[in-house]
Amino acid sequence: MPRTKVQIKRIGVLTGGGDAPGLNAVIRAVVKVATREYGLTVIGFEDGFGGLIENRARRLTEKDVVGILPRGGTILGTTNRDNPFHYPVEENGEVVYKDVSGRVMENLAGHGIQGMVIIGGDGSLKIAEELWKRYSLPVIGVPKTIDNDLLATDQTFGFDTAVTTATEALDKLHTTAESHHRVMVLEVMGRYAGWIALHAGVAGGADVILIPEIPFTFEKVCEKVRERRRAGKKFSIVVVAEGAKPVGGELVVKKVVEGSFEPLRLGGIGNVVGDKIEEMTGIETRVTVLGHLQRGGSPTSFDRILATRFGAAAVNFLMEGRYGEMVCLRTPDIGSVPLAEATGAMKRVALGNDLVRAARQMGISFGD
Ligand code: F6P
Repeated sequence: MPRTKVQIKRIGVLTGGGDAPGLNAVIRAVVKVATREYGLTVIGFEDGFGGLIENRARRLTEKDVVGILPRGGTILGTTNRDNPFHYPVEENGEVVYKDVSGRVMENLAGHGIQGMVIIGGDGSLKIAEELWKRYSLPVIGVPKTIDNDLLATDQTFGFDTAVTTATEALDKLHTTAESHHRVMVLEVMGRYAGWIALHAGVAGGADVILIPEIPFTFEKVCEKVRERRRAGKKFSIVVVAEGAKPVGGELVVKKVVEGSFEPLRLGGIGNVVGDKIEEMTGIETRVTVLGHLQRGGSPTSFDRILATRFGAAAVNFLMEGRYGEMVCLRTPDIGSVPLAEATGAMKRVALGNDLVRAARQMGISFGD
């Protein structure tokens, strides 16, 4: 794509996809850097691409971002539906999908916006890339997801907070496990990647960690629980990623959300594992599904800092003419990659991952 530098005076910002702790910190950095450093006007679109299609927007000044740094969620609202290239419209009583991206471009022109900062996961970033490719709209993407499963960045913001929340949950589950001599199973999020389970499992002292990348057998899981009993340890802690599955088994899907960027909602494997452990070992077992608690609450300082660096870099890169790119962490620096390379490339836990190795060496079972 040619990079003819555009004179940018007004920029838009939106948050798309599932929320993640740190979104507000990005918005705050974007607004502050854009207004203070470059004298830009910032327009925030509400509810992701929905607001861009329906022209629901408001001006964001420094006043609007006061106090939002420690707040979870997003002051702009978000949705994981509303793709302008595939948007449901009612025609003759029927829902048909249309390309309404022309309307998006008209709305942007109406606001006098020359550049967009799009904060989102894979689905939102694909739309950003399409807006850049098709309309040469200067866009810059900011990667967010608690799952930490984007290949093009060392880490996404939100992940550290999710891991912290899951670790705190494990600390609490430990006390009941120990008092009641039970097996406690914790199901965590992460979609098709086991990052949250692996990190929280190690940080929270789990005995078994089940992740999508390592198919498990119930026999191996129970072997670990029995081995601990024999060694006089009457309780066990099992962390299960929502995308984990037994050897030869299927993913457990909780629901299918039509019209979503990612229609499959995983969930339920924790109960399957818990039931099997109780049945096969005879040890009382309880299951906790942590769910959206992992996406909520105040971001950790790590996530606040990463989100702030991403937000500031997004504006700087846009002003430097680095369009159609996504900011990323290339430790210790913030860099950027073309959106085309950043989307669709998933980062999963490699079998040779040093943390997996260390965990195994310390006696943690992966059920394989
Ligand atoms: O991608 C973030 C995530 O929280 C996943 O870990 C989880 O599978 C999914 O989103 C849940 O989505 P929803 O909020 O739509 O139920």
